Amino acid sequence: MATAYPETLTDALLQKYNTTGPRYTSYPTAPVWTETFDANAYTQVLTDTKAQGVAAGPLSLYVHIPFCEARCLFCGCNVVVTPQKEQAEKYLGYLFREMDHIAGLLDTSRRVVQYHWGGGTPTYLSPEQMRRVFEHHTSVFNLDPDAEIAIEVDPRVTTDEQLQLLRELGFNRLSMGVQDFSEQVQETVNRIQPIGMTEHMVDYSRQLGFGSINIDLIYGLPHQTLESFTNTVRQVIRLSPDRIALYNFAYLPWLSPYHKLLPADAIPEADIKFAIFRMAMQHLTEAGYVYIGMDHFAKPDDELAVALNEGRLFRNFMGYTVQHSRPNEPDSEMIGVGVSSISGLANHFAQNVKKLSDYYELIDANQLPTHRGYALSHDDRLRRQVILDILCQGQVDIPAIERAFAIDFREYFADAIAKLDEPTQDGLIGWSDCGYQLTTTGRILSRNVAMAFDAYLPAAQASDKPMFSKTV
Ligand SMILES: C[S@@+](CC[C@H](N)C(=O)[O-])C[C@H]1O[C@@H](n2cnc3c(N)ncnc32)[C@H](O)[C@@H]1O
Repeated sequence: MATAYPETLTDALLQKYNTTGPRYTSYPTAPVWTETFDANAYTQVLTDTKAQGVAAGPLSLYVHIPFCEARCLFCGCNVVVTPQKEQAEKYLGYLFREMDHIAGLLDTSRRVVQYHWGGGTPTYLSPEQMRRVFEHHTSVFNLDPDAEIAIEVDPRVTTDEQLQLLRELGFNRLSMGVQDFSEQVQETVNRIQPIGMTEHMVDYSRQLGFGSINIDLIYGLPHQTLESFTNTVRQVIRLSPDRIALYNFAYLPWLSPYHKLLPADAIPEADIKFAIFRMAMQHLTEAGYVYIGMDHFAKPDDELAVALNEGRLFRNFMGYTVQHSRPNEPDSEMIGVGVSSISGLANHFAQNVKKLSDYYELIDANQLPTHRGYALSHDDRLRRQVILDILCQGQVDIPAIERAFAIDFREYFADAIAKLDEPTQDGLIGWSDCGYQLTTTGRILSRNVAMAFDAYLPAAQASDKPMFSKTV
């Protein structure tokens, strides 16, 4: 499904649909979760799931390493910036205790089909620490021989020795932060990363045999111009990564205090951002990349593009991913460990505390470091499925949803369907007897279509506390 750049994607349309909205790495989204779902509730859910044994399906494990050596001013992630490396050793001690606690509540013979290290900067750890984390987890869990084993790396702090070790351990995917090659932008956001450094990391990773390499870019950063970002996109195409994530800068100065240090008047206006987005879309698709969905592009032979064609695309806290369960097996459940990490089970979400001191304190008290969570109702599960279908398959099969959830779709979703009148007139959606399908333009604005089915959004939009970033 190679997506040619759609001529119908005009500036006027981008302007019209440039509202604030969630990115739907979960539904309901995190602001809806509550502290009433606590460590006891999470323990109970894990215990109940353990009783199902391997019938509960495969597992995805996410490990959060929060440390970074320096602060990138655009960053909206949960990070601990410290040059004091001894902090990592203390953290690992607690991480292992949390992992052992969780493992005791799970059936560890369930296949682990995805194993991800994210951050922060996981390569903040020394090679010896990285080996220990990997061996600790693989000695406890049942890592599938075909598992996707991925890590986020920062080319500025990742050494050749670390890359060799990662390959030796079995990591097969790398995601590297680049954001922008313009020196002026790099200086402004406090992230100096010469192109030669990124190029070496891509070349060396490929030489070592990493199966899929991703590059992260951000558009909308201060001092970016259409010309400068065109150069960045051309350089990235030359490096030829398997995947490209093109994130819209989530500028949230009310949430991320370091965003206040950025020169607000140098942040590109909406018209420049639209021009940058259109240029990137055009250059990447002309270079042969397939538009996967919100922010993501991949080469046609990459697993993500193949999964898109085969209807196996899935979305979770790590963005787009491939559903790794076997036929007739439930979708994988994600268990996150580490400070601030998120777990997504079949019908529940749980998130760990965000402060390191709270994380240590709770583990010292032999508790799971759960901060908040959520139990999904029937309505939540139904809406989650519709939203996932919109974002991953670009279509909703109404009879299939009606069968799975025992509803009359048109009656149940009369309000949501009414909200789709305008996007339909604007050419985002095509309807048939079986349901509706997003057009190429609609897939680019899929977040706006999904928002029609979000039961919690009207209350969030009515609140005077801004929660979400711009959709374009
Ligand atoms: C968790 S970060 C880790 C990457 C790694 N530490 C590095 O710096 O190379 C993952 C990605 O999130 C994206 N990101 C972080 N803050 C963002 C923001 N405010 N808006 C949009 N994207 C953001 C960046 O593209 C970044 O590479």
